[in-house]
Amino acid sequence: GLSNTKAMFAGAIDGGYAIPAYNFNNMEQLQAIIAACVETKSPVILQVSSGARKYANSTLLRFMAQGAVEYSKELGYEVPIALHLDHGDSFELCKDCIDSGFSSVMIDGSHLPYDENVALTRKVVEYAHKQADYVTVEGELGVLAGIEDAVVAEKSTYTRPEEVIDFVKKTGVDSLAISIGTSHGANKFTPEQCTRNADGVLVPPPLRFDILEEIEKKLPGFPIVLHGSSSVPVEYVKQINQYGGALKDAVGIPEEQLRKAAKSAVCKINIDSDGRLALTAAVRKVLAEKPAEFDPRKYLGPGRDELKTMYKRKNIEVLGSAGHA
Ligand code: G3H
Ligand code: 13P
Ligand code: NA
Ligand code: ZN
Repeated sequence: GLSNTKAMFAGAIDGGYAIPAYNFNNMEQLQAIIAACVETKSPVILQVSSGARKYANSTLLRFMAQGAVEYSKELGYEVPIALHLDHGDSFELCKDCIDSGFSSVMIDGSHLPYDENVALTRKVVEYAHKQADYVTVEGELGVLAGIEDAVVAEKSTYTRPEEVIDFVKKTGVDSLAISIGTSHGANKFTPEQCTRNADGVLVPPPLRFDILEEIEKKLPGFPIVLHGSSSVPVEYVKQINQYGGALKDAVGIPEEQLRKAAKSAVCKINIDSDGRLALTAAVRKVLAEKPAEFDPRKYLGPGRDELKTMYKRKNIEVLGSAGHA
């Protein structure tokens, strides 16, 4: 069956790597994620947002994720798979997911006043931890710039290291998402915040590793989560724009920084946008080059292949989770 994140994070902390947390909304994304993780022998966290539940139907998504455990075996190797609610915004939503078989949930109270975040997160933890199959809970302190699902933050508020011990103690969370300069989507920084390299490519300011280090000192060995960790590869942005797209000033987190984060107490790295870019780039190319094609399998298939290649690369070269399943 599905696994919670406890053993995954213990392994990641010991081994100095991070578990991939990939969002999915449809079958092709799920197939690519599982195939990539089986082929690289990596544990994986399947993330479902409330938007994904609305789009694909929550029952179907849950059965797909449960089916992914069987699919993994069929592909020849069973990897640990968690089904995780991404950015849960209420106790009721978290409870609904827990009741229907999710192995992990995030309660995102990061936009609330501190005491309300503590109270809400604690309520979810109490419910999740009393299940026969212990359900792990991720909380968040600090606000990411950009769009956190329903939560819109104009600018980022970094996590305050002086709050983390109190928050973890009072809530009992299993992991903590922090804000150190990442953000959601494909435009993580404005061009004004960046410099340009010799090729004219936007180079973002570095993540606040100083804040991460302070947090690690306060919570030694405690699992830290990084949201908004897509790299927004220039190749995909170029390919999308070459075949009719209009992505402007897209910029992500350089892989080098994620590699460094993965070696630290960061043991869950959330990636959604890069999957959207890979799929869109591949689909646009097929549709542009073969305008007579109208069988979805003929363009979603190549999209799925590109996704799998990308996820394998991330597991092997960025997160370091390959070989740890
Ligand atoms: O954090 C947000 C995730 O990328 C999910 O995005 O709400 O559009 O499904 P979504
Ligand atoms: P990206 O938009 O950088 O892929 O972040 C995804 C995320 O944090 C999902 O919770
Ligand atoms: Na790590
Ligand atoms: Zn997120």
